[in-house]
Amino acid sequence: MEKMTLSVIKADVGGFIGHSSVHPELLEKARESLEGSKLLIDYHVGHVGDDIALIMTHRGGSDCEEIHKLSWDTFVACTEVAKKLKLYGAGQDLLADAFSGNVRGMGPGVAEMELTERPSEPVIIFLADKTEPGAWNLPLYKMFADPFNTIGLVIDPKMHSGFIFEVLDLIEHKYVHFSLPDALYDMLIFIGAPGRYCVRHIYSKTTGDIAAVSSTQRLNLMAGRYIGKDDPVCIVRCQSGFPAVGEALEPFANPHLVAGWMRGSHHGPLMPVSVAQATPTRFDGPPRVVGLGFQLCGGRLIGPQDLFADPAFDRARAKANELADYLRTLGPFEPHRLPLDEMEYTTMPEVKERLKHRFMSVNPEELLAEAAAGE
Ligand code: F6R
Ligand code: MG
Ligand code: MG
Repeated sequence: MEKMTLSVIKADVGGFIGHSSVHPELLEKARESLEGSKLLIDYHVGHVGDDIALIMTHRGGSDCEEIHKLSWDTFVACTEVAKKLKLYGAGQDLLADAFSGNVRGMGPGVAEMELTERPSEPVIIFLADKTEPGAWNLPLYKMFADPFNTIGLVIDPKMHSGFIFEVLDLIEHKYVHFSLPDALYDMLIFIGAPGRYCVRHIYSKTTGDIAAVSSTQRLNLMAGRYIGKDDPVCIVRCQSGFPAVGEALEPFANPHLVAGWMRGSHHGPLMPVSVAQATPTRFDGPPRVVGLGFQLCGGRLIGPQDLFADPAFDRARAKANELADYLRTLGPFEPHRLPLDEMEYTTMPEVKERLKHRFMSVNPEELLAEAAAGE
């Protein structure tokens, strides 16, 4: 069967109200822009918080110029609407003035997967707001490498030989493959540091097929100035040799702490929510994730099913709220506030410069002498 491509391209081109959600007119404009396109087999316009996600199927492959241009033009059209309504931060993720072949590196987040549709092809598209791509590391590890989460790794013959993880170093722009379970401990030293190392692709060792892909843009590194945390997306194929839908959702039942939240400068729990609950307003958060389930049918997107709109995730939400309550009591102190080099807002250089003449040098020899005299 012919390969097709599933592309998820997302951007924040204006918030309603502040950075909390997307105005319905923007979603309408995005649908209008994709509707007429002959390039697409099908599309769905998703959203989480202040981000629009263009979920598209087509035959152009990954990094297809026409598809990226269509997405760019769609976000530009949405920006016009955002400007007209004076929405907040209109066009904030469109870093370049004009499209130049590929949206990677221009602002929008991208996750794309080329696949040959199986007889039945369930996929989940996870969309997160107020966090960064490394937020997927822990759940992807649990889905594809942790038998306490995914019993399929133990009892499904099509999963039992494990998966290959491709991990990207966001600073040095290099990637490396780990064949699991053998290289598990080697991999964890990297992906346990999600601000720098991100799981980008996962492949089945049984079939060699692509199993998952995440967006790995870091706007703050690309733009050289504060733009916002990168509000990542992730595609996961499910069932028949991949994690069952329930195994792919299970990691989110225990909300883990991610970087992002208010001013992209805090740790907070990643709360799994329905689309209707995906408007983060408490201290601009806490960070949210929605899960949109689709069955692919000759490239048609049958769905979405709003996968976290299940009362079975109520306790995860309650736990996330408890964690949020606790972390908020720490106010501007770490570990609620991010370490100095990861904050997206800081007054440090200016304050330090202003106070520099008031800092006195400590003389270690004097201190040692004082300590010795005190004995
Ligand atoms: C975090 C986020 C918001 C903003 C905050 C301040 O990713 O989008 O928490 O950082 O609302 O926004 P500005 O600087 O636009 O006033
Ligand atoms: Mg925003
Ligand atoms: Mg956002």
